[in-house]
Amino acid sequence: MKIVHAASEMFPFVKTGGLADVCGALSKSLASSGHQVSFFLPGYRKILESSVFASAKLELVLQVELGEQFLRGELWALPLGENETLYLIRRDEFFDRSELYGSRRRDYDDNDRRFIYFSKAVAQAMRLLEIKADILHCHDWQTGLLPLLLRIEEQTMGASLALKTFFSIHNLAFQGLFPRTSFELTNLPEELDSIEGLEFYEQFCMIKGGIFFADKIMTVSPNYAREILTPEFGCGLEGALKVRAEDLVGIANGIDTEIWDPETDPHLPGHFSASDLSGKAVCRSALLEKVGFAECEAPVYGMVARLTEQKGLDLLLRRLNFFVKNDCRLIVLGKGDAQYERTLNRWAKSHPENIVVCLQLDEAMSHLVEAGSDFFLMPSVFEPCGLNQMYSQRYGTVPIVSGVGGLKDTVVDCQADPENGTGFVFEPNDEPFLLALEASLAAFQDKDKLGALIKRGMAKDFSWKRVSAEYERLYRDSI
Ligand code: ADP
Ligand code: GLC
Repeated sequence: MKIVHAASEMFPFVKTGGLADVCGALSKSLASSGHQVSFFLPGYRKILESSVFASAKLELVLQVELGEQFLRGELWALPLGENETLYLIRRDEFFDRSELYGSRRRDYDDNDRRFIYFSKAVAQAMRLLEIKADILHCHDWQTGLLPLLLRIEEQTMGASLALKTFFSIHNLAFQGLFPRTSFELTNLPEELDSIEGLEFYEQFCMIKGGIFFADKIMTVSPNYAREILTPEFGCGLEGALKVRAEDLVGIANGIDTEIWDPETDPHLPGHFSASDLSGKAVCRSALLEKVGFAECEAPVYGMVARLTEQKGLDLLLRRLNFFVKNDCRLIVLGKGDAQYERTLNRWAKSHPENIVVCLQLDEAMSHLVEAGSDFFLMPSVFEPCGLNQMYSQRYGTVPIVSGVGGLKDTVVDCQADPENGTGFVFEPNDEPFLLALEASLAAFQDKDKLGALIKRGMAKDFSWKRVSAEYERLYRDSI
């Protein structure tokens, strides 16, 4: 099949979260199964400055209508492999910036213009390149308008650009909401500025484009696909999603098992497998040393996350005393909301023997935390899929997760199912969280139980090969 993906992030080029990991791995996996994959990404500064950009070639010049203007753009092509090409939409005014979406304090003021422009440019580039795709697959609000813009491009230019369109929701909490007047930038027919179109409580909503106009709506786990139809998790869009419920499918993400492989991971000082865990002990010691903890017998709890409400920071902060009281080690690697950073820092300062906080984005260190910890914490309030709980199982680190979204789909609770358990799953509330932490402490003393948990987790197959086969089947069925 000819498959086109469009997204605002892709590992290893640009990443702020799991979206990048998923896009990079899915694209690679589909290409390695023999499909022709074209991936469209904005030409961000980080890519323009990287050494790989030296082999990119200017393919086309674009003229993109944005409201009352026509804005020039460039399409650069970068071959990634035999069947995989990365296309960069370049307009430096929009994308040659230090960040992808804005600073920590504030999003860029023109994110509506930037991503409407990007989506329009992709539709135009697909026409000029004559790709004639079987599938166009868009991800998250930044490309929410593209399924619709593609059909408009087809109608106005008399072209056939893609047989079917897919739209993946990676996180419904990010909706691409702008003042209602931003609609004018789309040049779409006025009747779409309505509740049946892109209007959402008097605002302009980009994710609604994907929800209403893609042929198929995907999300990143079966459980989240059910959850988003409810007011609790639907972020106000549950009504719109219910209209499309028949076309809504959840497939749990996979992980890139080449990048996340404890037997070969170049970020680790020791390598290990389920049959020989000695290298894990080396990683544990290296992690303790790196963060300034002395070598110890106490259990080490790791967490790597954006420090936001979604990731359960409130719950964690209310329970920090557990780690102090029980003389455990807690290592948090993350960046995010200032209030959480401040509180974590305060605890780390007053309890330096128990809590360490690394307020940075550090890919290498995230691998070391996964490998060197005994337990991995994900007390998320909601979690469309989550990747770290899968990384941790593969790295022999027992996940402690709240029973929401994809966490519930990918971790088997060892208390409810002792034969098959791979971690601890709790209801996202204070008491159940504390009980799960206490249960993990007890399991840590019982080396046989812990060993069995670790082995079962490491034996699980989270590879993209299996997951992308499910996407392939859906793509084929749809065409
Ligand atoms: P989300 O996309 O909601 O942030 P995921 O679990 O899907 O959550 O993916 C998060 C990804 O970002 C993981 O690969 C994780 O390791 C990575 N990550 C998050 N925070 C950091 C950090 N401070 N340093 C390095 N990697 C991080
Ligand atoms: C989002 C979600 C996360 C998911 C990731 C990749 O960022 O928050 O749960 O794993 O997308 O699909």
